[in-house]
Amino acid sequence: MLEAFDFVLFGGAGDLALRKLIPGLFRAHRNGELPEGTRIVPTLRNAEMVLEYKNKVREAAQKHLNANEFNADAWASFAEILFPIFVDIAKKDEKWDQMAQLLNSGNNRQRVFYLSTPPSVFSVCCQHLHECNLITKTSRVVVEKPLGYDAKTAEEINSQIAKYFAESAIFRIDHYLGKESVQNLLALRFANGIFEHLWDARTIDNVQITISETVGLEGRASFYDGAGALRDMVQNHILQLLCLVAMESPTKMTADRIRAEKLKVLESLRPLTGNTVRFNAVRGQYVAGDLNGTTVPGYLDELGAPSNTETFTAIRVHIDNSRWANVPFYLRTGKRMKQRFAEIVIEYKDVAHRVFPESAGTTTPNRLVIRLQPEECIKIIMTSKNLGKHEMSLSPVVLNLNLADAYKDYFSDAYKRLMLDAAANDPSLFIHRAEVDAAWAWIDPIIEAWQRPENKPHGYMAGSWGPIASAQLLASDGRSWFNIDELAAGESH
Ligand code: BG6
Repeated sequence: MLEAFDFVLFGGAGDLALRKLIPGLFRAHRNGELPEGTRIVPTLRNAEMVLEYKNKVREAAQKHLNANEFNADAWASFAEILFPIFVDIAKKDEKWDQMAQLLNSGNNRQRVFYLSTPPSVFSVCCQHLHECNLITKTSRVVVEKPLGYDAKTAEEINSQIAKYFAESAIFRIDHYLGKESVQNLLALRFANGIFEHLWDARTIDNVQITISETVGLEGRASFYDGAGALRDMVQNHILQLLCLVAMESPTKMTADRIRAEKLKVLESLRPLTGNTVRFNAVRGQYVAGDLNGTTVPGYLDELGAPSNTETFTAIRVHIDNSRWANVPFYLRTGKRMKQRFAEIVIEYKDVAHRVFPESAGTTTPNRLVIRLQPEECIKIIMTSKNLGKHEMSLSPVVLNLNLADAYKDYFSDAYKRLMLDAAANDPSLFIHRAEVDAAWAWIDPIIEAWQRPENKPHGYMAGSWGPIASAQLLASDGRSWFNIDELAAGESH
């Protein structure tokens, strides 16, 4: 059972803290998920902010929680467990001693240090925690991407943290793993016999994984322009989804065994290097366009500077093992796309032998469509006889499971879930250092090839599905990105 803990939130007034972490902690408090006596200690960069802090986070929470979630009484009792303090992370002075006093008054309870700060201060922050003797046997540190800029910088960051915390006490967040719909991938695959036997190269033609966003830079220009879609989304979220789709069954649902299976997938990714990158990976950058009725500026206008950073990427990947021999995985993510969703499409091979006459129309390959967000649903595209016609006429129909109908009270808050898991010392949904290394080892050569002038990003209109080259990537294999709306409109493509 979870016991009272101290949650020290470095970067307590930062964007992530205000948008996700404090609202998530409030939800946990309101649901009675925080044990009595738990303290939340946000650290702030200046003394004046301390006085104003509770008002500031209250305003932010009202903005970021759903309308019916905020409740003045619940907030008042939540505010009592907030202990904001002024600490300069980079400078070990008497403020650190004051924080130590506060934490040491907590009777050896567990401590979670959440570093919601730029990685450049991870090391100094851990060092100061160590020098103040604040890292106890039951302390844990939570860190979030960007964990490095490439394999080398990731290794540096991980080594620095490892000087002060054992691997078992380091919780690396990928918030996609905290999404309930993402965890459901494990249940879908390993608790359903019908899929267990239909999950390999014999039956599956290709797999498509898309995270498409409608947002642009969102005031994060300096971070995003140095990262781009490959580092920001593929190195972590998309590769994690790929692992969950492609991994073998773990012998048990424990953190170690799940991570070991994910690692094998990452290590089996066929490397893309040099010239192969151009033929397998597309880069795009949005230009001004119409996003659902509103004209939005292009990336360079938003940025106000020239840049070759990609805001879109589509990649064809192969996993070199016997389960997935010759099955392409198409990965795609982009900003300012036509629609926001995250989805996995498993496209099955067509029937081996067609018995229907041409007049019956075409058969549509079966597809399992797993929509992870914004709505959580699972659809199976099947071919049926058109019951409205006398003659045999085939047409696609959709079997639709809307998980929100099955779980009415459910509300997904990935950060809340992950913060509580860290407090409960459950690392299952966090990333092991070896996974970070393996992901970068695959990503680095692509980034290197993208430095070549011929690999500049293609322009794509904001509000579209990305550059034409993305469609061409699949067309060159005789395939296309699946779009269920177009299927519904009668145009399977
Ligand atoms: C973050 C990226 O990790 O994930 C952002 O840095 C992106 O650029 C975000 O917008 C997407 O998360 P979600 O949960 O909104 O799909």
